[in-house]
Amino acid sequence: MFNSELMKKLSDCFSPSGREKKICEMIMDEIKDFADEITIDPLGNLIARKKGAGKKILFSAHMDQIGLIITHVDKKGFLRFANVGGLNAKELLGLRMVFLNGLEGVICQEELKDKETLLTSKLFLDVASTDEEFIRNNFHIGDMCVFKTEYYETEDCVICKAADDRIGCYILIEALKNHPKTDNDIYYVFSVQEEVGCRGAKTAGYTIEPDLAIAVDVTATGDTPDGIKMDVKLGGGAAIKLMDKSIITHTDVKELLTNTAEKNNIKYQYEILEFGGTDAGPIHTSREGVPSGVISIPTRNLHTSGEIFNKSDVEECIKLVIAVSK
Ligand code: CO
Ligand code: ZN
Repeated sequence: MFNSELMKKLSDCFSPSGREKKICEMIMDEIKDFADEITIDPLGNLIARKKGAGKKILFSAHMDQIGLIITHVDKKGFLRFANVGGLNAKELLGLRMVFLNGLEGVICQEELKDKETLLTSKLFLDVASTDEEFIRNNFHIGDMCVFKTEYYETEDCVICKAADDRIGCYILIEALKNHPKTDNDIYYVFSVQEEVGCRGAKTAGYTIEPDLAIAVDVTATGDTPDGIKMDVKLGGGAAIKLMDKSIITHTDVKELLTNTAEKNNIKYQYEILEFGGTDAGPIHTSREGVPSGVISIPTRNLHTSGEIFNKSDVEECIKLVIAVSK
């Protein structure tokens, strides 16, 4: 059964890249009774371990979310910003954003000249105040904000923000809570700063030095009208990544994931993503190299305020993580 309450909480938690404190505390609270050992490394990665004498397996889901960082505040209450993670200017226009302190703004654009394309530099955040003191006291260069979206669910799917990668965090939390009997030494990593270049995973992979690493993250789909050509769809099951811009999945790992899915009647599909990467990127090239792969959750509208995934795909991903741990 899908735990809507947990997913809503994770999705709504304010934690853009480099500001993962809140989500780290929330996940810590959720898993503390289930792990043998929990550490937070110097960069902020949350690492939960289930000890064993066997193979060292690292699972990684990133805790951070995309957002905006304020680059300039003018006294009229118009804030300029830059992206934290991959965001498209035309998808930002008209959106409501929320800051850590709960204050909000709406994204507006300057008047565009003939044929001028919309760039982030032509956008500004209107924080709905003409009170100079209020603006000065509450908004500062370096502040970050994230989408303000209401979590929504149907019988089979979810629309929310930061499904990338709070759904991956959700899957690792559920897998840890249902940790199987095994000799393997399992590390559940909730990494920081994936959206700005998988920075947390780089140090976590180095420290843990695993025998096998599996990232759990969202991927795009090819099932929308006139969308990208891609062989992944909502409801098609856990996506086993074969390649993206950061990794070509080790053939042994592809085989392991495929055989594990087959043996356990887990619904799966293969994925090739022609853009983007995941935590598996830096982990698989750390030290002498780590055979690595990715279990992906098919997700529509990636990096927008309304990402959509299918709950049964999530269940298959949880089953696959647990089966691989054994
Ligand atoms: Co992302
Ligand atoms: Zn992601």
